[in-house]
Amino acid sequence: MSSILTIADLKDLARRRVPKMFFDYADSGAWTESTYRANEEDFQKIKFRQRVLVDMSNRSLESTMIGEKVAMPVALAPTGLTGMQHADGEMLAAQAAEEFGVPFTLSTMSICSIEDVASVTKKPFWFQLYVLRDKDFVLSLIDRAKAAKCSALVLTLDLQILGQRHKDVRNGLSAPPKMTLANIADIAMRPRWWMGMAGTKRRTFRNIVGHAKGVGDVASLGSWTTEQFDPQLSWKDVAWIKERWGGKLILKGILDKEDALMAAKTGADAIVVSNHGGRQLDGASSSIGVLEEIADAVGDQIEVHMDGGIRSGQDVLKALCLGAKGTYIGRPFLYGLGAMGKEGVTMALEIIRKEMDITLALCGKRLVTDMGKDQLRR
Ligand SMILES: Cc1cc2nc3c(=O)[nH]c(=O)nc-3n(C[C@H](O)[C@H](O)[C@H](O)COP(=O)(O)O)c2cc1C
Repeated sequence: MSSILTIADLKDLARRRVPKMFFDYADSGAWTESTYRANEEDFQKIKFRQRVLVDMSNRSLESTMIGEKVAMPVALAPTGLTGMQHADGEMLAAQAAEEFGVPFTLSTMSICSIEDVASVTKKPFWFQLYVLRDKDFVLSLIDRAKAAKCSALVLTLDLQILGQRHKDVRNGLSAPPKMTLANIADIAMRPRWWMGMAGTKRRTFRNIVGHAKGVGDVASLGSWTTEQFDPQLSWKDVAWIKERWGGKLILKGILDKEDALMAAKTGADAIVVSNHGGRQLDGASSSIGVLEEIADAVGDQIEVHMDGGIRSGQDVLKALCLGAKGTYIGRPFLYGLGAMGKEGVTMALEIIRKEMDITLALCGKRLVTDMGKDQLRR
């Protein structure tokens, strides 16, 4: 579709095609959404240096993240309820990422299970773990990710309790949606969405339902997380999780230099500088705002990744210039998925790739791995 040129175009289309409850779930931040907005806005303040008359031929966006080759250093972030943006959403997004050559991260709170995604992909994907009170269940999740040959465990540190997103409360977010009159009216206007949903059996949290003890139904994310997420999670837990997992470990949700220094001591392979897309601590700094300080402090000890607010290939390059070795996108791929399924995820990645490539050239560079602080105007 030639009318889709930007991530914002995909967002507009997703808004029309995805039921309000799930579109809002993606397009929301905690409380006043100030951190959600800052994540995007702070990228705009960073300026490139334009360079001319340098050889721009043979450009490459290839890089590595935790030692894995990537077509560009942009992974798909773990996002809950992705299978509610589009039927079988996690399976489709994982396939799109695999074909494109970037990592896909499956959330603990996904609709499609670890096994569902493994059944439709050939290359290893990454699994994101939330630590729950039920440690037997946590161990079984780790073991299932191992059995599915996931090549990295992404341990999320910034959601021991759930930040409040007003839209979710007002919309009565649940998966599947409750059949109230308002929901029926809203869903009726989105035929692509409900026809897809009618054709799949994957409509609830399949990593959990039927796997966690005594859990036959997890409709409400809010109440389940309140009961199940472990508020006592500590740095000591990172050690046993690392030990049990035995593979590459990424610690996600670091926004403070002190925490980054602690994370570097755990022996993990990477940290993700992240505020959960502005969905947890409203009033916290934007991710891009703290990236440089954190990368300067620990970049020689641990690989630094970042996410939050990336809406273009230019944003990716800015993050790389400020010290990130890799980045993740959450909403950009969700909008693509909601708009056009797998094709939309590929389109989101293509848009970002093209923007990166042209920007790289106009900055006078041929290799994405050469982007550094000296490419920024300060
Ligand atoms: C709808 C949605 C659901 C999310 N669910 C999870 C999750 O289950 N686990 C997790 O670690 N992070 C989750 N996140 C945070 C993302 O992994 C990532 O940090 C964030 O989306 C990055 O910001 P961006 O959306 O601006 O790219 C979620 C984000 C969104 C938008």
